[in-house]
Amino acid sequence: MERNTGGAAKPLLAALAGVPSAVPPFWLMRQAGRYLPEYRALRAEADGFLDFCYDPALAAEATLQPIRRFGMDAAIVFSDILVIPDALGMAVSFTAGVGPRLEALEPGRAAVSRLRAAPPAGRLSAVCETIARVRAALPPQTALVGFAGAPWTLATYMVEGGPSRDFARVKAWAYGDPESFAALISLLETAVADHLAAQIRAGAEAVQVFDSWAGVLSAPAFERWCVEPMARIVAAVKAAHPGVPVIGFPRGAGYHYDSYAARTGVDAVSLDTTVPVARAAALASSGTAVQGNLDPVSLVVGGEALASSVAALRRGLGRRPWIFNLGHGVLPETPPDHVAALAGLLRADPGG
Ligand code: CP3
Repeated sequence: MERNTGGAAKPLLAALAGVPSAVPPFWLMRQAGRYLPEYRALRAEADGFLDFCYDPALAAEATLQPIRRFGMDAAIVFSDILVIPDALGMAVSFTAGVGPRLEALEPGRAAVSRLRAAPPAGRLSAVCETIARVRAALPPQTALVGFAGAPWTLATYMVEGGPSRDFARVKAWAYGDPESFAALISLLETAVADHLAAQIRAGAEAVQVFDSWAGVLSAPAFERWCVEPMARIVAAVKAAHPGVPVIGFPRGAGYHYDSYAARTGVDAVSLDTTVPVARAAALASSGTAVQGNLDPVSLVVGGEALASSVAALRRGLGRRPWIFNLGHGVLPETPPDHVAALAGLLRADPGG
């Protein structure tokens, strides 16, 4: 289908530049992964999950699988946010059904000094090699997105040692000894900005920063540990690569989405499932593109419920700078047929 992209060849990049479209560009967080049988077959070719991420041939193939099947407007490089703690010298492992495991940092300055100041380019260069391979293989209209975890979200995994229910240990450090916690966040800021810039040099055309646990902090702590570090990361990326759009995903930011959008300097905000469509539309009209925010469970359910939720988003956000996505990642139990149905719903012109 012909689309007016305002001069930019790729629909995703046009939306990120603020150009609206009747047919929204789309991609899905976690669009590669366990819900695809071809991913499960490929995954069996490496032992550890990070070994899989660091194998450019396997990771490039995983990145391309959903594009071949569904023709999304963007590919997101197959990697993980925990490659940065891994490159800083923390042992990171993944257990099926449990999730990531790290040797938890002991709160205080000594733990920060033991981390490598700069992640060795060696390990992370595998991610850049994946990007170069994917870029060479993508269809001309498909954009390539690089990513990293935000400092706060990385810190939660590094200090809690894995997923957490209450984040008590990492919050106690942040609230009780903000000076030494600031040293950890500052080190992560540099690592994140460097990794994003390296991905751009390798061929990423936009980058997204995942702050998956932004929503668990008090308002002043969100400002200090999410907004301010992100503003510095955006400034660093923009200084080196002024034309490359940055997407922020402060999941659970709720009341604070507008100030995050205005104060970090991101080109787009990715909205979680809870954000009402009218607020998303207001934000999209204010100069920051928006991305989101179908509930991933709607994609598991499929059928009429999926069609009506997608139609409601299109009514509220169509003809604005909007990128269709989920409010969080694709769930492993999602039927691939439902993703194909979603692609059909989105590609249908609302006027025709
Ligand atoms: O398709 C894509 O989106 C690209 C790949 C991608 C993965 N992780 C692959 C992955 C991306 C963008 C991520 C981001 C990520 N990783 C986040 C931020 C987004 C979010 O979900 O909030 C977070 C918090 C992580 C950390 C992480 N990695 C966890 C908590 C887990 C375990 C939970 C789970 O889903 O299994 C992972 C493992 C992981 N990362 C898998 C995949 C496909 C599953 C492992 C496997 O296939 O064996």
